[in-house]
Amino acid sequence: MAPNPYTPGQVPRILAGRVEELRRIEDRLARVATFGELGGPLLVFHAPRGIGKTSLLRIAQRRAAELGFISAWVACSRERPVLPEVVHAVRRSLEDADALPTGGAGSRWRKRLDTVTIEVGVPGAKVQAEIAAPPEKAEEPVAGAPIGALQALLHDTATLVRRRGGAGLLLFLDELHTASPDDMSVLLNTLQNLDGDRADNPLAVVAAGLPVTPEALTRAATFGERSSFVSLDVLNDQDARSVLTAPAEAEGVTWTSGALDAIVAEARGYPYLLQLIGSSTWDAAGPDRGDKLTLADVRKGLPAARDQLTAMHRARWGAATPLEQAFLAAMATAGRDNVTRAEIAERMGRESRAISVPRERLIEKGVIEPVGHGLVRFTLPGFGDFVRRLDEE
Ligand SMILES: Nc1ncnc2c1ncn2[C@@H]1O[C@H](COP(=O)(O)OP(=O)(O)O)[C@@H](O)[C@H]1O
Ligand SMILES: [Mg+2]
Repeated sequence: MAPNPYTPGQVPRILAGRVEELRRIEDRLARVATFGELGGPLLVFHAPRGIGKTSLLRIAQRRAAELGFISAWVACSRERPVLPEVVHAVRRSLEDADALPTGGAGSRWRKRLDTVTIEVGVPGAKVQAEIAAPPEKAEEPVAGAPIGALQALLHDTATLVRRRGGAGLLLFLDELHTASPDDMSVLLNTLQNLDGDRADNPLAVVAAGLPVTPEALTRAATFGERSSFVSLDVLNDQDARSVLTAPAEAEGVTWTSGALDAIVAEARGYPYLLQLIGSSTWDAAGPDRGDKLTLADVRKGLPAARDQLTAMHRARWGAATPLEQAFLAAMATAGRDNVTRAEIAERMGRESRAISVPRERLIEKGVIEPVGHGLVRFTLPGFGDFVRRLDEE
């Protein structure tokens, strides 16, 4: 059997579609590389889980490396303050690229990175901002210290990369919705300041997060709304097909059009599902180079794919509070894709206003998403069926 080329839950071997989105990133990179200036405001891709945000950013990171960028990657999380992670990531990217000076200059850089880590890790604290704050201001409570420290760090590292012949610095912030409002505010203020001296800051920041990200950023700082927000949608049928065909082709394996049609219909453009069913079909069929995967193979593989999906449904259900579960159950009984707020409230026997908290939390967790006009829907296909079947257990 040829090795299984599908990657459910991992960065795909080949990114299908997303041409427009990659172009957005490459435009920013071109500005940095060509003019040595800031690559525009924060670029934020937002979508529910499994739509391909991390994959897009990882592929962009590869392209950027080819263009001579040094890139730092931060997977934000509620467990850790984000800003020290940014400093760590920048440091690691410089070290991996051997971009730090050697000898005395190198150890000054390392000491400096340690200092900045502390400064950005103590929000609003009275820390001497060695790099940014002028001495006469250092006695005041230094709310601006983390901003100044981060700003100076990004400026100096980006300039260092550039001086060594690189294109610039690229910072990726994945799962940005998990950052605290304070951290978001510092990040936005830092970028705003860097923009004030745009021509002198050869760097770009690209982020991804759940659909709440734009709203969270705008709440953290009013000018957060000046960031560029791009929503990622499910894949169209043609791109969905190529999620299946392109990796197989590399192994000399093809698909019948009947098999492709069945998977595309089942996955509804959801990249994770395409990878999952592609993978389970492959394992069920065990194709060799020159083989063709058929509808019968798809059917043979589907139970394994469904089991995996059910495990994910179960995990999401289990992570919901009793009130959130009641909300989800009310949505599921409606039995349609898009459900109105009023209908959910009625089925829960509550005032429409009284369901705001579970609604917001479920959106934040990426279990449901708003689709306009007060409507919400489940983000993971089959979740409604799963919840309806819980009653029968
Ligand atoms: N454009 C794409 N082409 C092929 N596979 C993709 C694409 N986008 C996402 N995937 C696959 O879908 C799954 C989820 O992608 P991921 O980037 O982790 O989503 P997100 O970060 O939005 O949760 C991964 O298994 C990945 O391999
Ligand atoms: Mg992701």
